[in-house]
Amino acid sequence: MTDLCIPDATRDRIEALLVQGKNVYQPLYNAPFAPSIAPLRPCDDRCRAVEASMGDRIAGRKLWDVGCSLGYNTLYFVERGMIGHGIDIDPRNVAICNEIAGWTRGEARFSLGALTPETVETIAPGEYDYAFFFSVLHHIIEVRGLAAMQDMMREITSRIPTIYVELALRREIPPPGYTWDRHLPEDELAIFSTCSGLDITPIGRFDTHVGPMQRPLYRVSGKVRS
Ligand SMILES: C[S@@+](CC[C@H](N)C(=O)[O-])C[C@H]1O[C@@H](n2cnc3c(N)ncnc32)[C@H](O)[C@@H]1O
Repeated sequence: MTDLCIPDATRDRIEALLVQGKNVYQPLYNAPFAPSIAPLRPCDDRCRAVEASMGDRIAGRKLWDVGCSLGYNTLYFVERGMIGHGIDIDPRNVAICNEIAGWTRGEARFSLGALTPETVETIAPGEYDYAFFFSVLHHIIEVRGLAAMQDMMREITSRIPTIYVELALRREIPPPGYTWDRHLPEDELAIFSTCSGLDITPIGRFDTHVGPMQRPLYRVSGKVRS
């Protein structure tokens, strides 16, 4: 928590949004109050590992955070000088992100949006320096299949120089009601198997709320088309 003060009305709006959704996945970035629902997992551990892997290539860089949830990862890097754009398919999440952006320094923008082949086609080379796909791709593989994800990864890595992916594993046991595990490949890096010339570096493994198995997070750099 910070010692920042926000109006009661802002806090009430955020609390009302928090209780609406399926879950509260992330902490509120720099939260000036203790929310009534605890987050499922922290974000700071992943942000610090990613930050360390970026060295001094942060200030002024443009970030696309796909499946941004409550905006923690976007805002962490925006406060350190990046220009961030978070998208999420859940309007409640985007509304909370916009509230939190109000008390965080820096250039952050949040919008309702989904990762689809069509959205990927609209990314111009140079539009983003980095993209985050943290714990979101398994939901999309479940719906669209592995081949569609491989096609999207080929396009994304030819348009964005460095991406970070945190990947769910086929051997995880999803929470009740979820069946994404059976759609995932044995090797989580198979999403890149139709790409060429990528440099893939593991940067850590992280606890999730799903179970005892940690998820790997990779930095992936490719050759961007000009
Ligand atoms: C498991 S949470 C991960 C949140 C965040 N990336 C993290 O790791 O802290 C997945 C998020 O992705 C969003 N999501 C699911 N499918 C999506 C899609 N096709 N495009 C964009 N966001 C999506 C969900 O609404 C949710 O906020």
